[in-house]
Amino acid sequence: MITLWVLYLVVITAASAATTVNSQTVTGSGTATTAAVEKLLKVTVSNHWSGGFQGEFCIQITQELSSWRAHLTFDQPLNTLEVWVADLAETKQGGKEFILVNKPWNSVEHIGDKLCVTFIGHGQGDIQPTATVYIEGMTAAVITRQTFGPDYTGTSKSKYEYYVSATQNCTKYNYDDILRKSILFYEAQRSGKLPGNNRIPWRGDSGLEDGSDVGLDLTGGWYDAGDHVKFGFPMAYSTAILTMGLLQWKDAYQTSRQLDHMYSCIKWPLDYFIKAHNNTNELYVQVGDGKADHNFWGRPEDMDMARPSYKIDASHPGSDVAGETCAAFAAGYLAFKDKDPKYAATLKQHATELYEFGMKYQGVYTDTITAAVGFYKSGNTTDELCWSALWMYMITNETKYLTEAEKLFQPGPAWGLSWDDTTPLNQVLLYKLTKKDIYKQAVIDTMADWMPGGSVPYTPKGLAWRSQWGSLRYSANMAMVALMAAEVGINEKKYRDWAMGQIHYALGDTGFSYVIGVGDKYPTHPHHRAASCPWPPAPCSPEEVNRPEPSTHTLYGGLVGGPGKNDEYKDVRDNYVSNEVATDYNAGFQSAVAGRLIIQ
Ligand SMILES: *[C@@H]1O[C@H](CO)[C@@H](O)[C@H](O)[C@H]1NC(C)=O
Ligand SMILES: *[C@@H]1O[C@H](CO)[C@@H](O)[C@H](O)[C@H]1NC(C)=O
Ligand SMILES: *[C@@H]1O[C@H](CO)[C@@H](O)[C@H](O)[C@H]1NC(C)=O
Ligand SMILES: *[C@@H]1O[C@H](CO)[C@@H](O)[C@H](O)[C@H]1NC(C)=O
Repeated sequence: MITLWVLYLVVITAASAATTVNSQTVTGSGTATTAAVEKLLKVTVSNHWSGGFQGEFCIQITQELSSWRAHLTFDQPLNTLEVWVADLAETKQGGKEFILVNKPWNSVEHIGDKLCVTFIGHGQGDIQPTATVYIEGMTAAVITRQTFGPDYTGTSKSKYEYYVSATQNCTKYNYDDILRKSILFYEAQRSGKLPGNNRIPWRGDSGLEDGSDVGLDLTGGWYDAGDHVKFGFPMAYSTAILTMGLLQWKDAYQTSRQLDHMYSCIKWPLDYFIKAHNNTNELYVQVGDGKADHNFWGRPEDMDMARPSYKIDASHPGSDVAGETCAAFAAGYLAFKDKDPKYAATLKQHATELYEFGMKYQGVYTDTITAAVGFYKSGNTTDELCWSALWMYMITNETKYLTEAEKLFQPGPAWGLSWDDTTPLNQVLLYKLTKKDIYKQAVIDTMADWMPGGSVPYTPKGLAWRSQWGSLRYSANMAMVALMAAEVGINEKKYRDWAMGQIHYALGDTGFSYVIGVGDKYPTHPHHRAASCPWPPAPCSPEEVNRPEPSTHTLYGGLVGGPGKNDEYKDVRDNYVSNEVATDYNAGFQSAVAGRLIIQ
């Protein structure tokens, strides 16, 4: 559910900076069990804020491991440390040293593997500590530099080209069925009072008190992923992306007979955003506390923890989330303007107010909404303000918006498309709306970076693999960008072929479909609380996480996080890095499927 781990570059010192030390001297008395000389890797933390910081280390594995313990030692004590791909076994030296042990699904590490661990530390004030790390008993760690990608050069280009040419077959997968199932996935994520025509039999009303802490009705919207927090930033992004796909490829929804379902799909979060924007310069951007929520493994219908509501306002600005929500409203206006003019006018009003709010009170929402920091921390506001200005232009034709968007343009190559980064789509839309070469070049530069020969690595089976956490979502997002670029006349065949290769990888070209309920072999153990729970009245408990049986309910249409950089993947429920689903994962994916469908 998260990209932030990679969006912030963490510099790890290069090999020459490695220091060989005796583990005893690093770890303090009585910690190390081996007298072996272990290599110490220096970790530098580059992203920090008041009360916390974020970092990552990567260790090249140099001997076969069937389990591992890593010692991460900071130069100053911390209050707490959060890690996701390991368990925290012990804290020593008064909060300086943390011993991390493997999760069941990453216990086995082979020579040549790279073990990467991201973390968030919490301390007093704005601290930027340094740290060292080593793995117990591993004596010859080779230090690698962590970069955005060029360090994985595993796949030869020719192999990849073969893969692409082998998949140019538009009838191989039933796109109609995939659109239908992806929409069902969004229905399974619904919070609030469900309508009479609810199609997910194992879901009921939930979160009915949301907003009561602030005297508002904040029921509705989508649960973010396998959990039950309502995070406004990715929800707005997902709504905007899905709606843009509907506007661009409406015919696909028509021919697959999903058009009405699709209108309901986007209306659900739009109705929620209307409730969340109850005052001109106020927008509720989160309901639920991440920590309390993640400690609860159960059905959303059974939640009993407090669900606090968080808002941005003039003194807690959030131009990123205001801009993204503006885009969702504006796209919604275009989708509904003929079908339901009154509703559309309401959406337009909200879009306009949020645009002005985001422009007038500029700021990054996670600077003040710290409850979102560990989950959806925003990098900056440039891309979302540009994106919202483009949408405002598209709903008004007023040149002042286009002028503003051009001012906020960021050239390529863009890192990728995500809930935190709309840069690639800004490039496409700027070209579409101005026909200026500079924007076309930005699109070409971004795509070149993603296609073979660019900096984005490929797995041996051909997935453009940007990052471990939700690898498939990044490739599907860029597939959609490629299809949007093709629509405005840039490298049409090349981009469409590439997009199809990426989407077909997810749909089953490797012999396994990463979309639940699609094909013969697909994930049956997604990291999703509601789907894992037995039918009531049987209780649902944390034991469900490690239950070896498939989840009780099939979460149709959910795209899981996806494989590692060598196509490796295990269908286990406790792995939220590769086996969680999320509303943002399906958004680009579904729009790309619609985009392929229409040009058959
Ligand atoms: C495309 O895929 C379908 C279904 O797998 C298969 O029947 C058909 O022969 C394929 N067409 C080509 C041209 O490979
Ligand atoms: C605020 O919400 C209340 C009910 O929750 C509603 O009656 C009112 O119209 C809303 N006001 C605005 C400005 O949206
Ligand atoms: C804004 O943040 C995104 C995502 O972190 C990043 O890709 C982009 O380069 C940043 N833009 C600026 C102007 O810093
Ligand atoms: C903007 O102008 C274009 C081209 O004249 C037109 O097709 C479109 O409907 C207009 N949009 C709005 C919202 O006025």
